[in-house]
Amino acid sequence: MKKTIASFFISCCVLIQLHAQDQKMNSFINALMSKMTIDEKIGQLNLITPGSDIPTGSVVSSNVEKKIAEGNVGGLFGVIGTEKVKQAQDIAIQKSRLKIPLLFGSDVIHGHKTTFPIPLGISCSWDTALIRFGASVAANEATADGLNWAFSPMVDIARDPRWGRVSEGSGEDPFLGSAIATAMVKGYQGNSLADKNTLLACVKHFALYGAAEGGRDYNSVDMTKMKMYNEYLPPYKAAVDAGVATIMSSFNDIDGVPASGNKWLLTDLLRSQWGFKGMVVSDYTSVGEMVNHRQGDISQVSAQAIKAGLDMDMVTEGFLGTLKKSLQEKKVSISDIDRACRLVLEAKYKLGLFEDPYRYIDPSRAAKEVLSESNRAVARKIARESFVLLKSDYKTLPLKKTTSVALVGPLANDKNNMLGTWAVSGDPQKSIPVLDGMKNVAGAGLKIQYAKGANITDDPNLARQANVFGLRVDIDKRSPDEMLQEALSIAKNADVVIAVVGEASEMSGEAASRSDITLPASEQKLLKALYTTGKPVVVVIMSGRPLVLTGSIEGATAVLQTWHAGIEAGNAIADVLFGDVNPSGKLTMSFPYSVGQIPVYYSQKRTGRPIDPNNKFSTKYLDAPNEALFPFGYGLSYTKFVYSDLKLSSNTLIKGQIIEAEVTLTNNGPFDGAEVVQLYTLDQVRSVTPPEKELKGFQKVILKSGESKKIKFTLSEPMLRFYNADLKYISEPGAFTVMVGGNSKELLLKDIILK
Ligand code: BGC
Repeated sequence: MKKTIASFFISCCVLIQLHAQDQKMNSFINALMSKMTIDEKIGQLNLITPGSDIPTGSVVSSNVEKKIAEGNVGGLFGVIGTEKVKQAQDIAIQKSRLKIPLLFGSDVIHGHKTTFPIPLGISCSWDTALIRFGASVAANEATADGLNWAFSPMVDIARDPRWGRVSEGSGEDPFLGSAIATAMVKGYQGNSLADKNTLLACVKHFALYGAAEGGRDYNSVDMTKMKMYNEYLPPYKAAVDAGVATIMSSFNDIDGVPASGNKWLLTDLLRSQWGFKGMVVSDYTSVGEMVNHRQGDISQVSAQAIKAGLDMDMVTEGFLGTLKKSLQEKKVSISDIDRACRLVLEAKYKLGLFEDPYRYIDPSRAAKEVLSESNRAVARKIARESFVLLKSDYKTLPLKKTTSVALVGPLANDKNNMLGTWAVSGDPQKSIPVLDGMKNVAGAGLKIQYAKGANITDDPNLARQANVFGLRVDIDKRSPDEMLQEALSIAKNADVVIAVVGEASEMSGEAASRSDITLPASEQKLLKALYTTGKPVVVVIMSGRPLVLTGSIEGATAVLQTWHAGIEAGNAIADVLFGDVNPSGKLTMSFPYSVGQIPVYYSQKRTGRPIDPNNKFSTKYLDAPNEALFPFGYGLSYTKFVYSDLKLSSNTLIKGQIIEAEVTLTNNGPFDGAEVVQLYTLDQVRSVTPPEKELKGFQKVILKSGESKKIKFTLSEPMLRFYNADLKYISEPGAFTVMVGGNSKELLLKDIILK
């Protein structure tokens, strides 16, 4: 009782303090806005990029310095490094009338200059504490380099691996996606935005961007509200609940209205229902793109966007060019412009920029923090936690450090592709290729020979498109056959072959949708030839998406999925291949058996005609299974984990009470290791058709060889809620199945009744 009174008292004090801070901020901003002209207010809504080294298009604002001095710019992105940031901030502070500091944003997607694995890889660690820590390290490094705004996390649920941007998110599941969204927002923003080493996070792309039709980037999205609420919106909502400061609207339309001009999305849902208090920025030129969406001319779409609830216009300059006239013509109101301006100023205020515009510009911090040894160590740790062992004969791996290795494949001695997509500040030449990593980790006892074996692709058209930001696919001067023969000759003399294949970094990411997601033909040919040598072949796959591996890995003795693993890729891969670290990653996106099955994801619904191989008229393909090749949650270890004895503290769950589920996990193999224990439920009878399984909990557990542990989950009624046909978030009493196991397919089951 005493404790409750004390914590109530503390909460009251915190609320009073927050209220006082808000009041202070409001009076500061009221005073500032009372001095601002309409032009200056509209200027704050303008986010532009002055540089030439921008990754996503060719729009470069002219006369940027003049615009800053005239108060026509609210923020910049694509300006990196304290020196350049200071030059730009100086103009705002010394030359503009009201000296309003600028925001400096960047795509800090997976680390800053110390590049971590791609986000899809990071998500496979299922380690939210590590993910949060990683985001805080990225924030520390980015702020040391002059930035105060990260365009991350991307939390778009994605179930179509043809879409190249699956690499930037956390996969297919809303529960896991929400946990990761929360961790990243908290990691970036820390306890206070005003701290020198925290920055504004920006959750994106609001909303449903991952559901583009056919997996083709920028394509239309069409889905029911019920599916949105239950399956696609939860991670954005989790980010809002975690206090995310900014949100980026997406390129796609929703219910026929582009997200950047969608009032239902940006105002009714985001602000009225979810209570979001921060600022909304458009995606790159997405305001202008509403013209292509056939919503009207630039002045119409800009007015539509600001009235819908969009605050900052990235790159289009539609707000800058048209809003004043629209105000005069009464197409927008001053309250629309004031709202947006206030929210931009509030973001600056919360960062502490009015107190000190140079807060994030400290060259001594940059020298110490950027690309530090300790940041590289974090990148290496995250990388080895992100790898997923897809196949193992439990004999070949881990390798002995004195073994004789034939290392082959176009990605085996490659720096250009280690960082992965969206590493705008990373320098590929600072990354560690696998060949170097293996030598570093194994030391002098290792006998290693290397041969490229094949090009990533022989297709000049694909190569040209993958090479837009620099050389990624290097088509060798030698003929494919010459390369293959070299690889076969070193394979014959080795104990084991390690084949490193996959995608070039820019074969996934933005504007990198693919209709064929098998390994390129050149690599498939190499693998098949290596299998004929009779040597054990370990296939290491680097990719930005789940690939279709059917037909490519049957001859392999082991397969390690490493994604694009970042600056420390080679060292981290070697740590795992030599067993210094036992792999523990689990897939967060299903690997399809074939492209024709897509979308394939674990939480699909049962149909009225469930699959039955003996019944022609059941839901199935004639030529492929219904299930993924490797399902969500799947991943092996060098050791073997066994699940047994699922017990419930009661078979009846009463609202307001809990029951406990307990399972015994045993490490039955010869190595210590970590296992992600997963909890799923099924609602056996529901007013609207339920998914067959929904993830409701997970724990990453470390067990020594031979050790056994009882793992407990708590079940409560709110965990069984869903949005019904009226979009009410409810649970329905009745029977549920509780499932626990090491992936979404192999599970122990028990039934409960919800009363
Ligand atoms: C991407 C965003 C990114 C922005 C700024 C856009 O093309 O969709 O994710 O934050 O560019 O670089």
